[in-house]
Amino acid sequence: MQTVRQPEALREAIAAFRAAGERVALVPTMGALHAGHMALVEAARRQADRVVVSIFVNPKQFGPNEDFDRYPRKETTDSAMLKQGGADLLWLPPVEAMYPQGFATSISVSGVSELLDGAARPGHFDGVATVVAKLFNQVRPDIALFGEKDFQQLAVVRRMAQDLDMGVEVIGVVTQRDDDGLALSSRNAYLMPEDRAKAIALPRALGAAARSIEEGGDAAAALGQARDTMAAAGFDVDYVELVDAETLGEPQRDRPGRLLAAARIGTTRLIDNIPVSLN
Ligand code: PAJ
Repeated sequence: MQTVRQPEALREAIAAFRAAGERVALVPTMGALHAGHMALVEAARRQADRVVVSIFVNPKQFGPNEDFDRYPRKETTDSAMLKQGGADLLWLPPVEAMYPQGFATSISVSGVSELLDGAARPGHFDGVATVVAKLFNQVRPDIALFGEKDFQQLAVVRRMAQDLDMGVEVIGVVTQRDDDGLALSSRNAYLMPEDRAKAIALPRALGAAARSIEEGGDAAAALGQARDTMAAAGFDVDYVELVDAETLGEPQRDRPGRLLAAARIGTTRLIDNIPVSLN
């Protein structure tokens, strides 16, 4: 695996792939890699000749009171995992290469960025869309892989790639979970042991609500029940919502639905989501 830290070196490496006629996949990450990220790398390997992984803790997507400073940074172990996992190229841009003096552009995807986590974290999805657009322009991949774990992010990136004719096929990969059902996340490292034990209330509450809705139960009651069980487990619930899986707007009968939740336990904010069929 080759590691590059400057745009010029990245361009050369990508040009070599292109010259060989190879299909290129991009997996954007912020590092502190776990099996969830590695599932994206694996899916990328199956669908492309070359796998490029970026690691960049993007300051533009963190709010002023969020965890940018304490976000885990683990370059050595990340690099070893990617090598082991079969990545071809690791792109580690320094912040000055991404946002040089005078940087003034922001990408804002309206609608899908404004609900749910967008409402709770103002500016977050503009920061995500802007950095992902830059990464797409730098790497010019054929495909890019994102986890369903960050379901709203996937919807924002899909919309942007389509709206701006980016020519990148955006592929979603199912959420990887610990044995007890908690979705893998770099932020799980913040959880104190007692909070880690309580955290499974989040996927369990979502699972119970999805089953109840699929069995014909009243959706509002199922969502209220999920909020209550999460609160009883010690969560401070931001939202539990049932939405249309594509627009993230009002759920529509006979179209795929999605149940999404965000909640804080201790100082850690967790998100999760699962599919719901609405017949
Ligand atoms: P990060 O949180 O590092 O996640 C990188 C990718 O891994 C995202 O597409 C995310 O959805 C996926 N991922 C994380 N946990 C997962 C899990 N348990 N199962 C499956 N996929 C999982 O998301 C970001 O970084 C950033 O916002 C980024 C897109 C890199 C832009 O800065």
